[in-house]
Amino acid sequence: MSASIKSNQKRQPSRAGRAPEKSIQEQLPELRPGQSTALLQELHILTREGKLNQDTRRKLKQVNHLLQFIEPLLQEALEARGDVSLVDHGAGKSYLGFMLYDLFFAQREVGWVYGVETRAELVERSRELAARLGFDRMRFVATTVQEAMTSDQIPAEVDVVTALHACDTATDDAIAFGLARHARYMVLVPCCQAEVASVLRKHKALTLSRTPLGELWRHPLHTREFGSQITNVLRCLELEAHGYQVTVTELVGWEHSMKNELILARKVSNAKAQASARERLQQVLDELGLQELQQRFGA
Ligand SMILES: C[S@@+](CC[C@H](N)C(=O)[O-])C[C@H]1O[C@@H](n2cnc3c(N)ncnc32)[C@H](O)[C@@H]1O
Repeated sequence: MSASIKSNQKRQPSRAGRAPEKSIQEQLPELRPGQSTALLQELHILTREGKLNQDTRRKLKQVNHLLQFIEPLLQEALEARGDVSLVDHGAGKSYLGFMLYDLFFAQREVGWVYGVETRAELVERSRELAARLGFDRMRFVATTVQEAMTSDQIPAEVDVVTALHACDTATDDAIAFGLARHARYMVLVPCCQAEVASVLRKHKALTLSRTPLGELWRHPLHTREFGSQITNVLRCLELEAHGYQVTVTELVGWEHSMKNELILARKVSNAKAQASARERLQQVLDELGLQELQQRFGA
């Protein structure tokens, strides 16, 4: 493992006439205290020289920010049942899983991280890296989120489901997975989803003749944007209809990502709120002519 810089590197005493060397934290303020720079180099977030480029700085900020939302949920689950499992869907290179393992799981000697990813070569790379790092409680499953629903490589009940920019409808499949596996928490940063926009587009003329609200998505650009927004609205209602309390917030400032909406869902179960959410979900689908997506959003 290349480790040209160390996380706990200290300030070197100054030599005559030279400014003291900066600590790694001073050089890279994006790093979390104790975060392994060796891991970040393995993930190619840091270069061999220990530097960030524009893209990897953005990725590091994004993932580190997300970790701050996830860690308290992991801790809560751990306290509730003495163990904790997290399933990351559309894991890609598994930045999120590895960085979580490094900062949370590695010191605790309990808990499991599962990565679900369709691209077999990324899964293989993640398996090799986990083995090399001794991250023994990480597993990677080469499958779609949809097929993961029935995978016996993942426990029947899981605590936390995450999906960071999982493509298109993979976020919807991650929600379905979380519901099926009784996840206590779901943490979702959706990617663009084209399905709702395509249904809006298909019924545009009819909707415009029926309601002036059709103006909200008359122009093609608005169809895409409104489609994207309404998709997340429907996802939130779906989660609420299944007993989750939902918070929607920004992941990081807009300068770091265009796909920036963070949906945090916590299972609370409240029959009255669930019935109301189910009703509102159906009303929104009816009002916007999206009835054919009832199954997608569990209405
Ligand atoms: C934009 S990348 C995000 C990767 C990672 N979550 C991140 O933020 O760095 C989306 C990943 O989801 C994977 N993916 C897309 N659809 C999927 C599906 N239905 N099931 C599993 N993985 C999927 C893609 O192969 C890709 O690696």
